[in-house]
Amino acid sequence: YKTRRCHASVATSYIRETSDVADLDWENLGFGLIGTDFMYVAKCGPDGNFSKGEILPFGPIALNPSAGVLNYGQGLFEGLKAYRKTDGSILLFRPEENAIRMITGAERMCMPAPTVEQFVEAVKQTVLANKRWVPPTGKGSLYIRPLLMGSGAVLGLAPATEYTFIIFVSPVGNYFKEGLSPINLIVEDKFHRASPGGTGGVKTIGNYASVLKAQKIAKEKGYSDVLYLDAVHDKYLEEVSSCNIFVVKGNVISTPAIRGTILPGITRKSIIEVAQSKGFKVEERLVSVDELLDADEVFCTGTAVVVSPVGSITYLGKRVEYGNQGVGVVSQKLYKSLTSLQMGVVEDCMGWTVRL
Ligand code: COI
Repeated sequence: YKTRRCHASVATSYIRETSDVADLDWENLGFGLIGTDFMYVAKCGPDGNFSKGEILPFGPIALNPSAGVLNYGQGLFEGLKAYRKTDGSILLFRPEENAIRMITGAERMCMPAPTVEQFVEAVKQTVLANKRWVPPTGKGSLYIRPLLMGSGAVLGLAPATEYTFIIFVSPVGNYFKEGLSPINLIVEDKFHRASPGGTGGVKTIGNYASVLKAQKIAKEKGYSDVLYLDAVHDKYLEEVSSCNIFVVKGNVISTPAIRGTILPGITRKSIIEVAQSKGFKVEERLVSVDELLDADEVFCTGTAVVVSPVGSITYLGKRVEYGNQGVGVVSQKLYKSLTSLQMGVVEDCMGWTVRL
């Protein structure tokens, strides 16, 4: 414990002194874990309050084999990004939105959550401690992964008595192996991701393990990922395993409404506002799978995927392709507007970025 405290003070001096960029092949970042220097750890006991939290060396953590997260999946995660501006400063994108979403998810999963202030402060500390891992401007971003887990031991099914809040980071580039090129999706006709009353609307870890099987089968057939339909009618679009979906027809952009079975994406919410500000009509509603047939463009949004154009969608053996190999003008325009804002290339008229 003493050594750890000592490392924490190393981190503090490091925050003040280091402004260099890590020695990494910045040209070839994908979306894989690159371990960095530090992580943030805070604990919460039965009183429901989180400890102050410490910056510790990044590395393995000890967990009781009976921890709630390991046995019953009592865990949540978040994802957000930091970008380096040309002047060397770092921008976070809407971190308080992630904090709020974690609080909502924690309520659903019977877990205590850090307050918005604790969450945002912890994100800032973690990013500053790992400043040298924020990619140079235009080379990618620092992906920030906050994790909240039931770390206390349980045996009978019950909420854990102790919780751990961790934040680790990794420099990342494009999420899909296609890079910025359009992805090819298949509409899933066997598995569902979520059902009404379930946990599809919160970012619990189990939502992600349960989509691996369909994703694996799709990838083996050459698709980038799977697009899910609703579990009741098998007709309405839900989301892709790791991102939300938008369908463009003329000046109207439609996306599945938030009804508890899809994740309320922060990029989704931001793109809706950006699109409206550019004069598009945005509809949040039930979007039928049939609408994919005569759409002009389809694109996905998410923290990891940003705005990813869809080149084709296959449904029940029929493949629909989207114009110009999928790089539609609307998705390109929205990608540019959002990323310019996130990277501080244009003035943040939305008030979404937090400067470090
Ligand atoms: C994100 O976009 O941040 C996510 O959490 C999706 C994850 C599967 C990478």
